Amino acid sequence: MDDFFSWLERSGLGETVRTTPMVYSSLESVHILGIALLVGPALAFDLRLLGVGRQMLPVTAAARHLLPLSRFGLALAVATGAVMFVAGAVAVGNSGAAPWKLGLLIVAGINIAVFHRGVYRGVNAWDVDVPTPVGARIAATVSILVWCSVIVAGRLLAYT
Ligand code: HEM
Repeated sequence: MDDFFSWLERSGLGETVRTTPMVYSSLESVHILGIALLVGPALAFDLRLLGVGRQMLPVTAAARHLLPLSRFGLALAVATGAVMFVAGAVAVGNSGAAPWKLGLLIVAGINIAVFHRGVYRGVNAWDVDVPTPVGARIAATVSILVWCSVIVAGRLLAYT
């Protein structure tokens, strides 16, 4: 794996990002902006699934307004994270936090897929002023825990 990481780091993209002033720090700033756009709206939607604003805010309206922002934030975080990874592949790839971050991102993806293909298909029955089903509450709780843990694992990449 180390050979692959050093090959990535020595690639044209890796060299450019490492040696051009301000590029890495700009990528990091956009990574954080992406995280804010991803996690803020996702957690707001999770709170709705847990019952906040149940009387007046339809789940479908919350999903329509919040989830596209979240997807855009995820795209920003993935794109900038991938380029930063290429630039620092040896250190980041060997960090003890890397497998945790990757594993948690996979869990987040599975949770989203299970929610949208499962309980969310019946949302019309619990859109507004009705308690959300247990499955939706479990998905919301997992989502909150996992996204917060991804942030912790991301921060730890530089320290472990
Ligand atoms: C495939 C997706 C992703 C990749 C490849 C990736 C990769 C990276 C890399 C290479 C760093 C820089 C580490 C360093 O400079 O030491 C980083 C930082 C970080 N990442 Fe990600 N990341 C991804 C997605 C995410 C997501 C979705 C989140 C949060 C929900 C996140 C949270 C963080 C945090 C909090 C930091 C530390 C930022 C800082 O201290 O400046 N990452 N990530």
